[in-house]
Amino acid sequence: MAAYNHLCKGNIKSGQKVLIIGASGSVGTYAVQLARYFGAQVTGVCSTANLDLVKSLGAGKMIDYTKEDFTKSNEQYDLIFDAARKRISGVTKSKCKDVLAPNGTFVHVEMDRKDRVQDLDYLGELVKAGELRVVIDREFTLEQIVEAHRYVESGRKKGNVVVVVR
Ligand SMILES: NC(=O)c1ccc[n+]([C@@H]2O[C@H](COP(=O)([O-])OP(=O)(O)OC[C@H]3O[C@@H](n4cnc5c(N)ncnc54)[C@H](OP(=O)(O)O)[C@@H]3O)[C@@H](O)[C@H]2O)c1
Repeated sequence: MAAYNHLCKGNIKSGQKVLIIGASGSVGTYAVQLARYFGAQVTGVCSTANLDLVKSLGAGKMIDYTKEDFTKSNEQYDLIFDAARKRISGVTKSKCKDVLAPNGTFVHVEMDRKDRVQDLDYLGELVKAGELRVVIDREFTLEQIVEAHRYVESGRKKGNVVVVVR
């Protein structure tokens, strides 16, 4: 829902160049797939270990932020979506000014959004149709909930974690 709503807020359109920061996280893995589904040319920013994952989700290009500073590249993007926690990615609109196209839009996952039931139904249909993959990193039992939270708070998860209640 967060990925979908922020891409809509950014007025995503087919053919646009879209940059997804935090492309390997929960919101990011959905954002890459949805942006691709909407016909955008997607570039995903992630760490070395997650380049293949982000490619498998449909990104045409990947930027390894441990090796390259995307804010200094020669590319310009119509839409930049920071899908990672601000305190983790350290990204701001002003830092992206040189890679944002003149009429480009910057959206951040921590901006306000409005969740709607019909959007959830729409996304559910995309999952059922195989257009949207749910990336699951690790499963935890309810007894491991503290460990699960610690892992999520590490900011290093790939996609999502699941807590299984037996
Ligand atoms: N998850 C949800 O359901 C949800 C819903 C609504 C809002 N939110 C909000 O959305 C934000 C993101 O949450 P999240 O659960 O998707 O992911 P997250 O746990 O905040 O981020 C995970 C990803 O961020 C990447 N990352 C870490 N440092 C980075 C950097 N310097 N540059 C680029 N990427 C970096 C990591 O990838 P690497 O390991 O490849 O570095 C990791 O895969 C949070 O503020 C959360 O509160 C989450």
